[in-house]
Amino acid sequence: MAKLSVTEALRRRRAWKSFRPGPAMDDATLADLVATALLTPTSYNLQHYRLIAVRDSARREALCEAAHNQRSIADAACVLVVAADPLAWMGAETRWQHLSEDHRGRIARSVAGTYADDERLSRDEAIRSGSMLAMSLMLVAEERGWQSCPYIGFSADAVAALVDLPEDWMVVLLVALGHSEEGGRPRPPRLDVTTVLCDESWRGPIDPARLGDGGVDP
Ligand SMILES: Cc1cc2nc3c(=O)[nH]c(=O)nc-3n(C[C@H](O)[C@H](O)[C@H](O)COP(=O)(O)O)c2cc1C
Repeated sequence: MAKLSVTEALRRRRAWKSFRPGPAMDDATLADLVATALLTPTSYNLQHYRLIAVRDSARREALCEAAHNQRSIADAACVLVVAADPLAWMGAETRWQHLSEDHRGRIARSVAGTYADDERLSRDEAIRSGSMLAMSLMLVAEERGWQSCPYIGFSADAVAALVDLPEDWMVVLLVALGHSEEGGRPRPPRLDVTTVLCDESWRGPIDPARLGDGGVDP
């Protein structure tokens, strides 16, 4: 099967509201998908995350219940709980093992200078890392013929308990992967490029006359 371009994957991706019940995603497919998505960047290469794959049908049912009974979760081939550690910055040196001890030490001091006294930034960073990984997962899934849905509608405590998450960790979001038979549901409209894209300042509208053919996704 020809690979989708990134643009085509973005166009095709939707938040699918139902999946055709079927076999769980196999390990090799899942590992391939995750290995590609792990190329996603993170601040200081901290990679705050773990992905907990929930494929057992009884556990997907439990996850569905923890997510306000959104049925697509129970019917998916795999649900990934994207979890992240706000304290990942403490292990910065372990992410730079290919460098000299001296160089690793300098990075660790810089990381500590950024995050040690800023709990909120540490949590924001964990959410940023997990969110960016989730988007990569959904695009790679699309390329490989899977549909997806991201979820924030769940009880974080119930999900954390279900997957034995350590106390310091956070549930960033869930991503369900499966095959959907939904078709034709119109995409909710996106804001216009000229609304979102500002020129130099939040107050600086981009001049539509200068966009030419740009700014419209055909
Ligand atoms: C962080 C995040 C959380 C979301 N949570 C849910 C959810 O709990 N349930 C759901 O059905 N859709 C959820 N969605 C899907 C959005 O409603 C959907 O992406 C949006 O309406 C745009 O539609 P589209 O993705 O099909 O283009 C979520 C999306 C994001 C990015």
